[in-house]
Amino acid sequence: MTTLSVDLGERSYPIYIGKNLLGSTDLLRSHIPGNSALIVSNETVAPLYLKQAQAMLSGIRHEAVILPDGEKYKNLQVLNQIYDALLANHLDRNTTVIALGGGVIGDMAGFAAASYQRGVHLVQIPTTLLSQVDSSVGGKTGVNHALGKNMIGAFYQPVAVIADTDTLNTLPERELRAGIAEIIKYGLICNADFFSWLEQNMDALLAKDSPALSYAIEVSCQTKAEIVAADERESGNRALLNLGHTFGHAIENAMGYGNWLHGEAIAAGMSMAACMSRQKQWLSDSDTKKIIQLIKYAGLPVAPPDRITDDTFLSLMSVDKKVMDGVLRLVLMRGIGQSLLSDDYTSEELIDAIHHSRNTG
Ligand SMILES: NC(=O)c1ccc[n+]([C@@H]2O[C@H](COP(=O)([O-])OP(=O)(O)OC[C@H]3O[C@@H](n4cnc5c(N)ncnc54)[C@H](O)[C@@H]3O)[C@@H](O)[C@H]2O)c1
Ligand SMILES: [Zn+2]
Repeated sequence: MTTLSVDLGERSYPIYIGKNLLGSTDLLRSHIPGNSALIVSNETVAPLYLKQAQAMLSGIRHEAVILPDGEKYKNLQVLNQIYDALLANHLDRNTTVIALGGGVIGDMAGFAAASYQRGVHLVQIPTTLLSQVDSSVGGKTGVNHALGKNMIGAFYQPVAVIADTDTLNTLPERELRAGIAEIIKYGLICNADFFSWLEQNMDALLAKDSPALSYAIEVSCQTKAEIVAADERESGNRALLNLGHTFGHAIENAMGYGNWLHGEAIAAGMSMAACMSRQKQWLSDSDTKKIIQLIKYAGLPVAPPDRITDDTFLSLMSVDKKVMDGVLRLVLMRGIGQSLLSDDYTSEELIDAIHHSRNTG
């Protein structure tokens, strides 16, 4: 087991990464301050892992709430089922909400924990690659609104993250690839060496080779932990983690939540960001090619669906949260591993980048 730390003063917390962590009797219990807990999971993950999670809670009163599975249920109506379970079971301010599932469950359970009685303890047990490398770390929680993704939410840090890599054995291949998109993102943002490692080890990751996956999860969590520790509330560099996301959220929104996986949408988004950086002559032709090749090799899309028009793109991108004072800031690249925030572009350049990515796709 590897233990990393997210350093946020008195709200610091550990991330445990390793095999068979759900089989460890003390790990979860040692992070439960009170004597009660609510496990939040969904219809897919609960039959696979709920019993193991419950077995980790012996001696603690625990309840479970099982939500329907899917991004389209990441909304206020379904969130209410968590509050119902907390209240119906008389769980008090010292209870712990345990998110057992992928990013959808993590974001929803996290927001329930942030808001129930003004905040109860939260433990994240991410079970998808995407949630192990990204969503369970850093404290962003929330739900979607019909008019925008993740538009209702809170920053709320867990007391621990337990990433059991054995859970990935049951993960469908398409979901694995979606997680790899976020892993590629860390290389592009700030770690050229990791990008090269990914070029050499993509086959191993796609084959779920355990040491390769563990290494990629560790580097990803370490990178995210450092960025979050330096800028918890995204007043500066944390926004770099949104590379590909401004484009990607527009795709997810235009296609209807759940039709394109989040990781697929941001893969296309990263390719669009690369095309735009290339057009600004910030990124070389060869680096742009490398980026597009790696995304393609991972079996991920490099262009948005044809049916999203330029106008739809522009209007959806302007509701993205990265808009500050009316200016849409994009994460672009000056090289692999050298991302930056920029509002130095025109809408023509933005449209050109969309067209360019379609030509590479
Ligand atoms: N909070 C953040 O910082 C942050 C960062 C990135 C993404 N997100 C959010 O995360 C969500 C995407 O997360 P995701 O990709 O994990 O999707 P997801 O939670 O929908 O999980 C993907 C699918 O895999 C299933 N599943 C989960 N674990 C499994 C397992 N071990 N075996 C078999 N099936 C399993 C789920 O039931 C679901 O059907 C999006 O809503 C996105 O907005 C949040
Ligand atoms: Zn993401």
